[in-house]
Amino acid sequence: MASMAQEVLLQMVRSDYTAPACNRAQESWLITGGAGFIGTNFIYMAAERSSAKLVVLDKLTYAGNLVNLQPLLDSGRIEFVRGDICDQALLDRQFGTHGFQRVFHFAAESHVDRSILGPDEFVKTNVNGTCCLLQATRQAWEDKTDG
Ligand SMILES: NC(=O)c1ccc[n+]([C@@H]2O[C@H](COP(=O)([O-])OP(=O)(O)OC[C@H]3O[C@@H](n4cnc5c(N)ncnc54)[C@H](O)[C@@H]3O)[C@@H](O)[C@H]2O)c1
Repeated sequence: MASMAQEVLLQMVRSDYTAPACNRAQESWLITGGAGFIGTNFIYMAAERSSAKLVVLDKLTYAGNLVNLQPLLDSGRIEFVRGDICDQALLDRQFGTHGFQRVFHFAAESHVDRSILGPDEFVKTNVNGTCCLLQATRQAWEDKTDG
């Protein structure tokens, strides 16, 4: 049985799903950490089941592998931006350029053994980076609501 999170993701990429108050065909989605394990699998599902423009932001750390996304890059189905979620200016620029309606956040330091050897990078990406992403999202979506 699918978990609640899986159900939500599946509903969002279902081909007959229509987001309230907007035309889904014109949507842009931001996917962070898309070159990692979970992100890559999500992107293939989203590319197949939705018509949204998919923009993938990934720093390509040791955990990221762009080769996994090569077919989608070659076909132009996804756009790739190499960057860090801690880079607030970069995030703001991406929101300004693409006007994302949805954000899927998979960028993370995810390997527990590494967190014991070097916790700084974990706090930076998982806490500060997530905060930067939330700030950029709130700023962009508040601006849209105000307008
Ligand atoms: N793998 C699992 O079984 C599993 C299960 C449940 C939840 N999760 C969660 O899902 C998320 C993704 O997990 P995963 O297994 O795909 O991780 P992963 O380590 O395979 O991939 C992480 C991706 O994030 C990118 N990244 C790292 N730091 C970044 C930064 N500062 N800016 C931009 N990109 C950055 C890496 O390059 C990589 O592509 C994590 O939050 C993890 O805790 C994973």
